[in-house]
Amino acid sequence: MIRPFDTTYNKILPLTSDEALRRRFMILDETIRANMRFGLLLEVLDKVAEEAAFIRGEHAFRRWGCAACHIGDSYTDQAQHNSGIGDPSLERRMMGPLPAFDTPTILGAWATAPYFHDGSAPNLIDTFFSTGFHNMGPAMDPREVEDLVYFMRAVP
Ligand code: HEC
Repeated sequence: MIRPFDTTYNKILPLTSDEALRRRFMILDETIRANMRFGLLLEVLDKVAEEAAFIRGEHAFRRWGCAACHIGDSYTDQAQHNSGIGDPSLERRMMGPLPAFDTPTILGAWATAPYFHDGSAPNLIDTFFSTGFHNMGPAMDPREVEDLVYFMRAVP
């Protein structure tokens, strides 16, 4: 749709008598407006895609049993588990023989790399490709891994 010549153009292009030039300006304007609408649509689609990734990630978080330990609003059961990570002979602890570790929260984990008590996972993806029971990545669909990481990054 070509809009009728309006006052905006009078400011930009002071009353040109060149009809062809006027029309080109109007077409340009129409294209810009259409692109802006398209940009808005892409933004909305992005939001929908993010929301969907979050929901899929949350689903994976439950499906893979993460919520058994990273549970509740604090995302920790406040208990210790033998994670099977690290070299037990290097651990020094005052209580108990096991190299067991407090379940850390995943809240804000996106900002606290590296991960695990020995810092052996440089990023969140690597936490699923570790030793011990967190090594669930190989059994996961690659997209599930992405969704899980998205969930952990986005969780409030
Ligand atoms: C049996 C309990 C348990 C389950 C199930 C579990 N975790 Fe953990 N998680 C822990 C413990 C304990 C640690 C600390 C391990 C260590 O430091 O050696 C940990 C560490 C982590 C860390 C590193 C956090 C940091 O700040 O270092 C992330 C990320 C994580 N878990 C995510 C997950 C996800 C995602 C799942 C599911 C795929 C999962 N966990 C399943 C108990 C659990």
